[in-house]
Parts: sequence; structure tokens; C-alpha cells
Amino acid sequence: MGSPPTKSRILPLLFATIILYFCSVSSLAELQRFQQPLKPDGSLSFLVIGDWGRRGLFNQSEVAVQMGVIGEELNIDFVISTGDNFYEDGLTGVDDPAFYESFTNIYTAPSLQKQWYSVLGNHDYRGDAEAQLNPILTEKDSRWLCLRSFIVNAEIVEFFFVDTSPFVNEYFINPAGHSYDWKGISPRKNYLANLLKDVDSALESSNAKWKIVVGHHAILSAGHHGITEELLNQLVPILEKHNVDAYINGHDHCMEHISTSHSKIQFLTSGGGSKAWRGDIRNWNPEELKLYYDGQGFMSGQMTDTKAVFVFYDIFGNVLHQWSISKVSHSAA
Ligand SMILES: *[C@@H]1O[C@H](CO)[C@@H](O)[C@H](O)[C@H]1NC(C)=O
Repeated sequence: MGSPPTKSRILPLLFATIILYFCSVSSLAELQRFQQPLKPDGSLSFLVIGDWGRRGLFNQSEVAVQMGVIGEELNIDFVISTGDNFYEDGLTGVDDPAFYESFTNIYTAPSLQKQWYSVLGNHDYRGDAEAQLNPILTEKDSRWLCLRSFIVNAEIVEFFFVDTSPFVNEYFINPAGHSYDWKGISPRKNYLANLLKDVDSALESSNAKWKIVVGHHAILSAGHHGITEELLNQLVPILEKHNVDAYINGHDHCMEHISTSHSKIQFLTSGGGSKAWRGDIRNWNPEELKLYYDGQGFMSGQMTDTKAVFVFYDIFGNVLHQWSISKVSHSAA
């Protein structure tokens, strides 16, 4: 102990500094953008599913079949995954057979052979988080696209995907026996500050008529996990400032819609991709809680320049709840 620094100790330090420098520079870069074409009539439709990868168990396969039916009906353009893509502990690596067993071999309907846009959930961070971000998975199944945070621009609507797990203090302070793969996150403070800045500036410069933010954790929820205070305090002010229309998440294993008089943002939870029926629901103002269904299901979105419709389904394809909003057309002569 206390021996003077030698060359052999300084060199690794130097490398670490260089690597840290490049990491911080790359995290300052803008969020990666993807272009999603509209249908010829200028509309767009998609499905949203969360908390799903369980090798078909817990009704995952039944949800998948019904997604195929509704996907066909709506002629969907893509699928959004709100995270917790692979249970219990994400993927072990790019060669984990769970990728086929829980994704490729489950969502087999022709209508689901579209682009999937996925974020990571907290369970994904319990495995090799970077494996899910690896383009090798896209080579294995061309539908797969998962990044920590990114933007999908579809002209009339822009989707801002936000990596929410690193916001949650509990995972760092009291991980309750779980280990998380925070390799790409640290230093956490910088990561979160850069992410919030990137989301803020991306929303600021967006010209899209509709703005939708997608994350794994709920901002408002009456479910098992409930409100995520960190997002309420740090992310919501940014979303409010830029008139975001909806925040879509998973995490609570339910189908849920909260609409409050304090905010124009609609809070939509689609976390019913497999294991559900927790049965616990917190007290919530019934005027705000437009839907709370703690069984399996999924959501659809249908959008035009002037109208957005969101529909929630159970595993039989029954409509649980529907919500729509209109905006006047600016482009009309
Ligand atoms: C599967 O779905 C049915 C219908 O909603 C439900 O009754 C059943 O409990 C579900 N099974 C599991 C394992 O969640």
C-alpha cells in the first residue's frame, strides 16, 4: 500500500482516461434517428407490447396470436416494445437462444414481420444489456432494433425512445440481490444529464404534429410499481415544455390509461405481454384512471395528420378501452 505510482500503474490509468473521454464524447452526440415511412394515404398504424419474453409462457403466445390478427386488420407499419424483452434476466449474450425462443419463434404472424422498435427494461439490464443493442441480433432477425435512446421520425409523428432504467435510484442504491449491467451508463450522473439534454433538444427541434415519448418505466401508474418519481421530477418537465401528446410505457404488467387535468400528456401503459394478473391496484382517482386491466394484452395506435386513436385489447382481441384525439390540420389551405 502507498507505494509510489509506477509506469505499470500509470499506463492503465491513461488508457482508462482515454476510453472515458471517448465515451463521454459519444454520449454528447445527438440521439440516433430512424425514418419510418407513412402509408400511401398518409396514415400510420402500429402495435405496442411490453414485458413479454417468456418462451411463450404466461399467455405470451396467445397475446402474439392476437397481435397477429389485429396487426393484419390494421395493416400495421411497425411494433413498439416498451422493454423487459427477455425474462428473467435479459439475454446472456448475442447467442442466447432466448432471442429465438421468446421473440423470433413467438411473433410469427405475417402482419408482425415488420420493424420492431425496442427499448431496454430493468430486467434486460440484469443480463448482458449490450447484447440486445448488438446489430448481430438484427442479422439473426431483421425486425429487431433496440437502442438505449433514439428517435423514430414518421413525418406526422415523432417517437422519442428514452432509456428509463438508469433513472431509477433503487437499482443503484438497493438492488435487492440483482446485478445490473451498467457498463454503458457510467458515470450515471453524466449519462442522465446528457440524455435529458438530448431529449430536450430533440423535442425542441421537432416539427412533427404529434410527439410521443416511449420508455419502460411508468410515469403515472396505479399498478404494482406505481409512479416513478425520478421520471416525474426529471423527465416530465421537459415533456410538458414541448407539448408531448402521450407517454407510453410498460413495467407494470397491465393495460392502463391515465389522463389527468394537471397535464395534457396521456399516460398509456402496455405491459401485458406475458405474466400478469398481479391483482394489486393502488388508490387512484377514478376520473383519471380511464382503464386499468391487470391481465394480458396489447395496444394499437392509428394516426393521421389530424387524428390519433389508441385501442387496448385483451388476449381474445376484445377492445378493453379506446381513446382518440383530434388536431386541426395546419396544412389545410
Ligand atoms: C391466460 O389468459 C386467460 C384469459 O385472460 C386467463 O384466464 C389466464 O389466467 C391466463 N393465464 C396466465 C398464466 O396468466
